[in-house]
Amino acid sequence: MKTNKNHCTEFLKWVLPQLGFRWEGYRKVKRQVCKRINARISYLQLRGLISYKEYLSKNPGEWKILDSMMQISISRFFRDYKSWELLGNKLLPELAARAIEKNRPLRCWSAGCASGEEPYSLAILYDQKLKHQFPALEFQLAATDANNNLLERATNACYPAGNVKDVPANYLRKYFIKQNEEYCLKNNIKNMVTFMKQDIRKEMPEGQFDLVFCKNIVGMYFAREKAIEVFNRIATKIRPGGFMITGNHEPVPADSLHDIRVFNRGLNIYQKT
Ligand SMILES: C[S@@+](CC[C@H](N)C(=O)[O-])C[C@H]1O[C@@H](n2cnc3c(N)ncnc32)[C@H](O)[C@@H]1O
Repeated sequence: MKTNKNHCTEFLKWVLPQLGFRWEGYRKVKRQVCKRINARISYLQLRGLISYKEYLSKNPGEWKILDSMMQISISRFFRDYKSWELLGNKLLPELAARAIEKNRPLRCWSAGCASGEEPYSLAILYDQKLKHQFPALEFQLAATDANNNLLERATNACYPAGNVKDVPANYLRKYFIKQNEEYCLKNNIKNMVTFMKQDIRKEMPEGQFDLVFCKNIVGMYFAREKAIEVFNRIATKIRPGGFMITGNHEPVPADSLHDIRVFNRGLNIYQKT
């Protein structure tokens, strides 16, 4: 049985805070989430949302499944292009020069990396802007996501046209091979990223980073208290002077974060003091 649109909104407003998420983040993607919930209700052969609520109260394990249904996976290469320009032309070369001076690797982390579009964009930028200018630089690139299917797609690294629409034409020719209707990354870029399955609410990669992408995940979907807690843990993972980049239209409670200042408000770039 299909659930009514308004009932699904009410259900989401009830369930999201219990999972530590914010309703406002889901407003635009509620159709997608409601579709998943509908499919789950049909799979369980329940009558609708009221029965599903009952099912949740009797089956605590279902909360974990509901939590995974809340993950939104929209992404694309070079999303929010202006910040990539600033990164490539200024921030990355500066970070690279500092890393060389201190005789250590330049370390970057893409948190909530979806199917790899974000870390691979960074790998392309390294190849274009840093590799020749800093031949001695060791560049380390970690990418994490909670969703195994997306990570599998990331290691496969083939994308539909929509995901590469912001890739400059010369990069598209240089780094991708068109296979049927998809654009597949060449191995030199694929091999640069280390993917890991991690839930950012529970774990983060080892060590400290010069640059952390945390776009369209924590600020967008997590409830304020949870977002503050996770952002503050991310802050401990950023080297002094290093950067964190969040998504466009993604609220970041910067006033509640320790050691993090706004570096460029328009481009959503923050710096560890
Ligand atoms: C909307 S996508 C954003 C992808 C990319 N960062 C971007 O901005 O284009 C959000 C990603 O975060 C992942 N995600 C959601 N909750 C997560 C969690 N608790 N831990 C790790 N990844 C999570 C989702 O699986 C999804 O791939």
